[in-house]
Amino acid sequence: MPAIAEIRKFVAPQPVRVETVPELTRCAATLRRVFGTSFTIWDGTSGELMHASVQQPGSNDLFRGQLARAIHGSEPQFLADEDCVLLLAVPLEGPQGRPLVATASFVVRQVNPNEYLNGAATLLGLDQARAMAWLTRQQIWPPESLLRLAAAAQAQIRAESRACELQREVEKLSDNLASTYEEICLLHSVTQNLRISSDEEQLCSLVLRWLKDCLPAQAVAIQLLPVAKEGQTTYKARTQSVLYSLGECPIDDAEFSRLIESLNLEAGCGPLVANRAVTEDADWSEPRVRELIIVPMAEGTRALGWIAVFNHTCEGEFGTVEASLVNSVAAILGIHSSNRDLYRQQAEFLASVVRALTSAIDAKDPYTCGHSDRVARIGVRLAKEMGCESKMLHTIYMAGLLHDIGKIGIDDAVLRKPGKLTEAEFDHIKQHPEMGYRILADMHQLSDVLPAVLHHHEQWDGKGYPFKLAGEQIPLIARILAVADAYDAMSSDRPYRRGMAVERVEEMFQKGAAQQWDADVINAYFSSKSDILKIAQEERANLTLDVQQWT
Ligand SMILES: [Fe+2]
Repeated sequence: MPAIAEIRKFVAPQPVRVETVPELTRCAATLRRVFGTSFTIWDGTSGELMHASVQQPGSNDLFRGQLARAIHGSEPQFLADEDCVLLLAVPLEGPQGRPLVATASFVVRQVNPNEYLNGAATLLGLDQARAMAWLTRQQIWPPESLLRLAAAAQAQIRAESRACELQREVEKLSDNLASTYEEICLLHSVTQNLRISSDEEQLCSLVLRWLKDCLPAQAVAIQLLPVAKEGQTTYKARTQSVLYSLGECPIDDAEFSRLIESLNLEAGCGPLVANRAVTEDADWSEPRVRELIIVPMAEGTRALGWIAVFNHTCEGEFGTVEASLVNSVAAILGIHSSNRDLYRQQAEFLASVVRALTSAIDAKDPYTCGHSDRVARIGVRLAKEMGCESKMLHTIYMAGLLHDIGKIGIDDAVLRKPGKLTEAEFDHIKQHPEMGYRILADMHQLSDVLPAVLHHHEQWDGKGYPFKLAGEQIPLIARILAVADAYDAMSSDRPYRRGMAVERVEEMFQKGAAQQWDADVINAYFSSKSDILKIAQEERANLTLDVQQWT
């Protein structure tokens, strides 16, 4: 598939225009080649002169036109026979079946210079002397030969016309194929760039660039309508309409909305094409819009936005070819936009589930309130320091929020005990990673989080729990959260002890690197410790699940 830059400018196929003049010129040339003299061509219905001969006397005499229109049948025939001159008529079929008649005078016997040939002179439209001069210069033709040659010329002209017609058909098909190919290339490029995660503005700007390349328009624009109400979304869902445009767009977002309203357009209305016959009307609300295509992007009866093409650059008009191209792009973008919205709704739902579970942990162990959120954000900061990708950061954030979800299954008395735990109580607490794993195991949307929930108490030296994994046997996400968890646990105040000073925590980290914790994660802590201190001290009223906000 060629790059869009390689695609030639989109040219709408034009209706085949039958060029009368080239057709007549071709017929006249064939007759001249066959007979060695030029013919006059008349309209067979009206007798109107279509093509004048330059060699024959009186060739544009309209009387001959009247003779020509009175012709019967399609065979070559003689329209007049005066003395030694025959007026030959060759019926032809012109463009779109238009009847034509070609005429020329021929001498059929030797002429004596002393003859008085009044009839021939009249037919030729010359005086006697000039008629004789012309007659004596002409080749002598047997009448049968004239008719046979005329029939042959007729057949040749017919064959040439057919060849020209086929040529035009081929050119038309070729134009149609080029248009279709370019449309397919454009649609292919659009679909190749559709990603749920792709930035909407980027996608719109790509689509606008392609449309602008393909269409002879002053500007192209996409208006996206709001998908959520203000304050009712955790993610960055659009709460106001937005207009993306390329080229000299003649109207702004508000004017665009007014135009849609004034045209009474709805989601299911299909493409609208307006050219000057409409836009020059006194009722037209946007005088700067001369030619227009507007196509809805919709999901069923719900309008998601509009694609518009403004003002033909070549003083032409927009037609069905351009409208159909824009409509195809709008259909694809509409489905994509709808999918994005569904994805957003799912993500919102997942976020609300995670929020509910996190609240349940906080309610169970109020002394550690906010711990999960801090661990999540510290984990993200450490992961960024270690060069993790955006998807991993998202997983770590979720895992941080949910890592202690298993504490829901621990006895309150043990969880909230202010003093030192007995061995049995500690064994009971040590079950929370596996309990957490079991709670979340059936939520496939959270499957990436499970290794962190199960292994966040493993230690680098293999002395942790529940499986005594060591070194890189422990998933990276769990090694990162282990450090984030330890930092917050050691530095936060608890009912039975004050939180450690940061210096003391850092001393513990230095001692425990490559023993309790992964040394790489500890290094990441020391290179980002000022950020982590800020995170630990920040009070947050609400959890934020928008990846754009916490990375
Ligand atoms: Fe834990």
